[in-house]
Amino acid sequence: MALRPYIVGNWKMNGTRSMLSEARSIDRSAQRLMKVEVALAPPYTLIHPVHREAEQIGVGAQDCHHEVEGAHTGDISATMLADAGAKFVILGHSERRQNHGETDELVNAKCHAAISAGLKLIVCCGEAEETRNAGNAEPFVIAQLRTSLPETLDDAAERLAVAYEPIWAIGTGRTATTDDIAAMHGAIRALLVERFGEEQGGAVRILYGGSVKPENAREILETADVGGALVGGASLTAESFLGIVAAGA
Ligand code: G3P
Repeated sequence: MALRPYIVGNWKMNGTRSMLSEARSIDRSAQRLMKVEVALAPPYTLIHPVHREAEQIGVGAQDCHHEVEGAHTGDISATMLADAGAKFVILGHSERRQNHGETDELVNAKCHAAISAGLKLIVCCGEAEETRNAGNAEPFVIAQLRTSLPETLDDAAERLAVAYEPIWAIGTGRTATTDDIAAMHGAIRALLVERFGEEQGGAVRILYGGSVKPENAREILETADVGGALVGGASLTAESFLGIVAAGA
C-alpha cells in the first residue's frame, strides 16, 4: 500500500492574511502535482480562511490541547481545530517540546485527543546535536516515539505520519546526511511495524524535516523510507515550497 509522498508546510508563527496569496498559489499548483499529497499548517488564525479557499491541499494545525474542553486559557482543542476545518495536526514538534516543556506522555495524550476529533496526525521526533554526537540519536528518537505514538491505530497508514526532524538541522541550513536519514527512518519503520503491524506500520509515511529546500529535496525524498517532508522556512513562499513538491512528484 504505497501512499503518495506527503509534503507538508509548517508555517510556524509566520503568516498573516497577506500570506493567503501564497496559500492560493500553492493550492492552485497542487492540482498539477497530483502525484504528491500537499498540505499546509498555517497559524490557527489562518486555518479557516485557507481551508475555506483550498481545493487541493490539506490544511492543518501545528498543535492542540490534550483535553476536549475546559479552563485552559489560550489553548485550542482538537475538536475546535476540526470545527475550523483542520484535517490534521502536527504534534510534539521539537519547538513545543523545548519551549513548552511537552513530554512524550503529553504528546501521547494529544494524539488520543486528535484521533478522537477525527484529525490525522503528524508526530514529530528528533535529537539534539549533543545526542547525535554521543552516538545516541537512534535510541533517543525511538524512546521518544515509543511513548509519544498512540498504542493502537487501526488505520495508521492513512491517519498517521511521523516526522523525523533532527533539532540541529531545523532552521540552520544543515541537513542530516542521506545515510543518517536512511538509518533513522529504518529504525522508525521497524518500530511502526512492531506497533501497528506490517501492512499498516509498513505504509505509514515517515517525513524528514530540517532545512529541506528545493535544492536538496530530491536527494532526501529519494532516500530509503522517506515518505515526504515537513518543511518550515522554505514553505513560506509558493515558489520554494512548490519547488520541493515538484521534487517529490
Ligand atoms: O516543522 C518543520 C520545521 O521544523 C523545519 O524547519 O525551516 O528547517 O525547514 P526548516
